[in-house]
Amino acid sequence: MSPSPMATDSTRLKYISLGVLVLQTTSLVLTMRYSRTLKEDGPRYLPSSAVVSAEILKIVACIFLVFRDNTFSLRALNHVLREEIVKKPTEALKLAIPSAIYTFQNNLLYVALSNLDAATYQVTYQLKILTTALFSVSMLGRRLGTYQWLSLLVLMAGIALVQWPVEAAHPPEQTEPSAGSQLVGVLAVLAACCSSGFAGVYFEKILKETIQSVWVRNIQLGIFGLIFGLMIAFVNDGEAIRESGMFRGYNSLTLTVVLLQALGGLVVATVIKYADNILKGFATSLSIILSCIISYLWLEDFDPTSVFFLGTALVIAATFLYGYEGQAKAAGSLQRV
Ligand code: C5P
Repeated sequence: MSPSPMATDSTRLKYISLGVLVLQTTSLVLTMRYSRTLKEDGPRYLPSSAVVSAEILKIVACIFLVFRDNTFSLRALNHVLREEIVKKPTEALKLAIPSAIYTFQNNLLYVALSNLDAATYQVTYQLKILTTALFSVSMLGRRLGTYQWLSLLVLMAGIALVQWPVEAAHPPEQTEPSAGSQLVGVLAVLAACCSSGFAGVYFEKILKETIQSVWVRNIQLGIFGLIFGLMIAFVNDGEAIRESGMFRGYNSLTLTVVLLQALGGLVVATVIKYADNILKGFATSLSIILSCIISYLWLEDFDPTSVFFLGTALVIAATFLYGYEGQAKAAGSLQRV
């Protein structure tokens, strides 16, 4: 029996969204790192301002997607926005928590990438698989199999290896000033792993427990994101903003980072809708390989040691081991149907 056109469509969207996620993750990490370490004449752009700009772009894009889902009718768009957002403030308020966390996380990622090379950052950030698993178990009541627990141990061992040699291999006097402090970078990534795990699971819970569309939910998320983002911008960089404006130091590279970050939000939401968190893990593992190659060949800020390679191989193997059991279970339940 041939699959229905709708099933083919969603399978196509699943693979397209995963492919776009691989490209988006790789290009965001590399351009963000490049834009934070490039030597420039004028003042550098403010990360907090880039987070705000990305949030605005995401809201505009999601409003357009709701408009498209309503056959490009302005009346219908107006109706959906009023009924689903303006008239349901308590529903919208549910998104304030993940939104505050994501805003904090999006700012942390700039701290991480100003202090760590792209490859180390990406491998360490895979620890979010562990935090996501722990939050899924505690908040969604999900059960993990033996292979999945084992894979989480392999993951931690891999990340420890990736982190271990960096300090030993590069005495402080050999690191470039722009590389900053490894410790600050690692702490920022670890905090981002906790926030990513919690916010991702919380968002998934809200999506599964309510009927509102993912784009409406993303508009609600974005509105709070914008409010929190502006608060962080004024608290952290108020003086710089008053002196030289919100968009100081913006150039085409900054705009690319903002565009890629906004695209990331939309792709993550699409992946959660059409694929799942496990496949999202695979996609980020593939993007690690791509980033390592480009970081080494193009940015030349990454000098891999054999211990780094071993650690990266363990992290990637752990991702696949974690997904293997999930996929095997899914295949088993399909066969039983
Ligand atoms: O690394 P992680 O998968 O946690 O990154 C999620 C990113 O996607 C964050 O930048 C967050 O702001 C964004 N996001 C979004 N809309 C969602 C879920 C995540 O914009 N529904």
